Amino acid sequence: MGNAKLIDGNLIAGKVLQEVSAQSAEFRHDRGRPPGLAVVLVGEDPASAVYVRMKIRDCGLCGIESFSHRLPATTTTRELLDLIQRLNSDDDVDGVLVQLPLPEGIDTKKILDSIDPAKDVDGFHPSNVGRLVRGDSQVLVPCTPSGVMRMLDEEGVDPKGAHAVVVGRSDIVGKPMALLLLHRHATVTICHSRTRDLAEVCRTADILVAAVGRPLMVQADWVKKGAVVIDVGMNSLGPGDAPSVILEDPARQSDFEKKGYTLVGDVSPEAGKSASLITPVPGGVGPMTRAVLMQNTLKAARWRTD
Ligand code: GUN
Repeated sequence: MGNAKLIDGNLIAGKVLQEVSAQSAEFRHDRGRPPGLAVVLVGEDPASAVYVRMKIRDCGLCGIESFSHRLPATTTTRELLDLIQRLNSDDDVDGVLVQLPLPEGIDTKKILDSIDPAKDVDGFHPSNVGRLVRGDSQVLVPCTPSGVMRMLDEEGVDPKGAHAVVVGRSDIVGKPMALLLLHRHATVTICHSRTRDLAEVCRTADILVAAVGRPLMVQADWVKKGAVVIDVGMNSLGPGDAPSVILEDPARQSDFEKKGYTLVGDVSPEAGKSASLITPVPGGVGPMTRAVLMQNTLKAARWRTD
């Protein structure tokens, strides 16, 4: 890596988790119960299983009670809707997270639409998406883009007036990321696989967010001198096709590295030569996403009981 300063996601996530711990202790003291997060995993996807395990561990770290629900891949949409209905009406549950992707055959939209918007800690429900578009203050915002904004704030990067280029247009990252930057007065360009002269557009970015899921796609010469580069990518490179999130699991990281796998982002590390600030992979955006999930759970808990 060149001259860019690395943005330490683990450090900032640790700070967020500490804040949440203090606030969740206060919540528990005031309300007589801890904030609660229900985590629903359907099927056997190994990557999803790792994600869910880490989320449940984070709950333990910051005094949030976790309710883990594991259902077989054969679960029907109706059965999952029934579970969500129960979680929606359970007063000890403040947040409901359904790990994606769901097995084929389950109607994902129908499931996400059935989660009580007040418990929608992923921010995927149409009410929360609408509130985000409007810029409402009482809104649950998707965790990854929210974590990216916190990283920019911690590093003193003000998006106001800057040209922010977001590569990727997913509902989970790209679209909400663009909106958050827009609300902070950036001039925002959303790019995607069909964008003409993608490299050229990226070169005009003061803030470049890569969230496409293509290993090392953003090359060093796509980055303007002094730009801030945020790499949301999580791709595994190496023998076979181990799910990349397994590599993000700190407990198993060295294990997988020994077998020759590496976790790489969407941005070539060479981009650090021209950037002023850049997020590493792993240890950048990943830990922030999980920390913000805890923050959203606490937010939902407070709003529900205020
Ligand atoms: N799968 C990949 N990212 C996410 C996320 O942010 N939330 C959920 N629920 N599932 C995911």
